[in-house]
Amino acid sequence: MYEVYGVIGDPVSHSLSPIMHNLAFKEKNVKAVYGAFKVRPSDLAKAVEGIRALNIKGVSVTIPHKEKIIEYLDEIDEIAQEIGAVNTILNKEGILKGFNTDWIGVLKAFEENGVKLKDKKVVVIGAGGASKAVIYALIKGGAKKIYVYNRTFEKAKLLEKKFKITAKPWEELKKADGDIIIQATSVGLKSWETPVGEEIISRFKVAMDIVYLPLKTKFLSLAERYGKIIDGLQMLLYQGVEQFKIWTGMEPPLELMKKAIYEEAKNLEKEILK
Ligand code: ATR
Repeated sequence: MYEVYGVIGDPVSHSLSPIMHNLAFKEKNVKAVYGAFKVRPSDLAKAVEGIRALNIKGVSVTIPHKEKIIEYLDEIDEIAQEIGAVNTILNKEGILKGFNTDWIGVLKAFEENGVKLKDKKVVVIGAGGASKAVIYALIKGGAKKIYVYNRTFEKAKLLEKKFKITAKPWEELKKADGDIIIQATSVGLKSWETPVGEEIISRFKVAMDIVYLPLKTKFLSLAERYGKIIDGLQMLLYQGVEQFKIWTGMEPPLELMKKAIYEEAKNLEKEILK
């Protein structure tokens, strides 16, 4: 019998997780299939009941459910609790447990690109669910100063309190500077937009985007002129690797997964930027 896994989110039509996980299941001889389920925010509670009723074994959680999902699960892993966001669910004999692997994805992405976080001054744009995992990773990586700029200042303030970092008003973004800049808003997803202009971007030696469609966002295209860039697929890949380990206890085929998602992202990119 095949077991069922999947991603819940809205939108999910361009998710690369099915390609990545189905390939890993096949390669590791795991009898399982992974699908994509569009779940509207108002249907989240029902979707979790569906996971239980259908005995779906593992779920990836994405935009916009990473924070809200917590109240519907039976157990939350300690780190996911600390971050305040869940991107992975494991169904263990009917007990739904939430984990966060996004932060490991962020740390690994920097590590694999040879970027050290220790003692760095980092600017994070955005204060949503993804930003929480980004900030947690930066703290674990030893960043010296972390500044969060968000359109809705109160949300940045909440993160300031939670993580002891510094919240900055959106209007002050034009004065931002530091070593590393991370684009963690949804701006630029399937569009040619950036929340920060070239003049600001030019002050940083390293830029990371969490958006991966297009693969090279407008933000990264500008940043490339001034330093190293890290695209959003890296975080996706490494958070997926950790998910696979949680679900199966096995090490997934990293290089194969990487090749497959980059190929697919390039195909989708052509479609999107047409
Ligand atoms: P995610 O799980 O990806 O973090 P989210 O929790 O919905 O998704 O957060 C989206 C982030 O993108 C927020 O920081 C949001 O800013 P607000 O808190 O002000 O809503 C940011 N964002 C979305 N659209 C934006 C825009 N047009 N300009 C600036 N920031 C934007």
